[in-house]
Amino acid sequence: LSVALVFGGVNCYIVSVTSWSPDLSSHPGPRYAALAATLAADIESGQLPAGTRLPTHRELADVLHVTVGTVTRAYALAAQNGWIEATVGRGTFVRAGRIARKRDAPLEEAIDLAQNRPTLGPQLEALASTLRALAVPMQLAECANYAPPRGHERDRAAGATWISQLGYTVSAESVIVTSGVQSALFAVLSTVAQPGDAVALESLTYPGISALVQQQRLRACAVALDAEGMRVEAFEAVCQRERPRVLIAVPTRQNPTGSVMSTQRRRALAAVAERYDVLIVEDDIYGPLLEPRPAPLSSFAPDRSFYSVGTSKALLPALRIGFLALPAPYIDRVTAALRTVGMASPILAEVTSRWIMDGTAARLLSWQRAEAHARQVIFERVLGRYEVPREASGFHRFIELPEPWKAGAFAEKLREQRILVAPTEAFVVGHGTVPRALRLCISSPPERADLERALTLIADLLAHAPAHAAAVY
Ligand SMILES: Cc1ncc(COP(=O)(O)O)c(C=O)c1O
Repeated sequence: LSVALVFGGVNCYIVSVTSWSPDLSSHPGPRYAALAATLAADIESGQLPAGTRLPTHRELADVLHVTVGTVTRAYALAAQNGWIEATVGRGTFVRAGRIARKRDAPLEEAIDLAQNRPTLGPQLEALASTLRALAVPMQLAECANYAPPRGHERDRAAGATWISQLGYTVSAESVIVTSGVQSALFAVLSTVAQPGDAVALESLTYPGISALVQQQRLRACAVALDAEGMRVEAFEAVCQRERPRVLIAVPTRQNPTGSVMSTQRRRALAAVAERYDVLIVEDDIYGPLLEPRPAPLSSFAPDRSFYSVGTSKALLPALRIGFLALPAPYIDRVTAALRTVGMASPILAEVTSRWIMDGTAARLLSWQRAEAHARQVIFERVLGRYEVPREASGFHRFIELPEPWKAGAFAEKLREQRILVAPTEAFVVGHGTVPRALRLCISSPPERADLERALTLIADLLAHAPAHAAAVY
């Protein structure tokens, strides 16, 4: 234990470099909240006197086998509560004076299995490094101004490279840079469909897609799903009955079911679209996470397909860059529609393009896949027997609830246990029935331990279903 005096402004600290290694085992809930709670307890008990210098984020992360992000969140929470203070260049210290512990502070936050997002890991280091490289006036000048309406040439080229790596060979000329996939879907739909037009949708789909269809006053026609996603005969029946203008599909890791459509199914769906003159809008936002993967649906009907991929799930939500590949005759009109939602930030597009072109994106994706795999193993062990459909693997899992549970009641029960899940009815298209099922976003909790705790609790609840159906309404 080394001791020194540091004078900084009005504060005078006695600095003790401590090898504090907290025991988090008695604290449930997310690891960052457990760490903040332990920190508060150790300050109160006098184990960490005022002025103590705490371990660095990295040191503590290594000791506790958690991510640096978890320590950062815990320290941020503790600083917010006034227990500790970070001084740039010197470190993090227990605050001098009386430690005012906010007893009512919401330390035990819920574990979030509701929001579908990648686990944060090496992306932060990569982003810091790319931003440092960019932080030179000459470099910034390249991306500091408005970009051309379709995006900078180099960004479109990077988008074309990425899409081609995913199995759909396209040129930079046919690619538009967007601020995420949602913007791309908006621009395409508002260009190719008129209010009142029928749109074929997966019967369970991402609520953002349903919202767009509703907002543009299109007619949603639900197409039944099976373990591979959209069923061909069901799509054909909708084509005959409703004459849809557009088909919107998420063929790879469908949201919410997680299903992956086989190559054969993609080819068959494209052929039906061709026969009934239906345009295809393919949302491949989860596609980069699957390897090996079938070629995009769009590759089977490129002349009628609008293909969109983005960074939000594969790399980093905060970049929210999308690349839209589309047939030449539509480029000008879709570009004009995009102007109403605004251009993608050229700085974020620059970061994305650099990551694609220098191999960072490939490295981060392979980390994300490995992390997702480790979480899938936990899922299989704890909850695998409830899953539908069984062959898919990935970010989100769809489980079937045993009788007498209904999705809404089960979600409510989980909320009481501080586990958040998305309401299943949000995925239902039109007036379809709400399945007795739940989507679980297994990449979302920062730590695998949090995921395991949440899944174990879910398994316990499922194993002890209430005897009376009335109990779950
Ligand atoms: C299927 C699907 N498409 C699109 C999005 C949104 O993508 P972005 O953040 O690129 O707009 C999501 C986000 O949850 C999604 O699940």
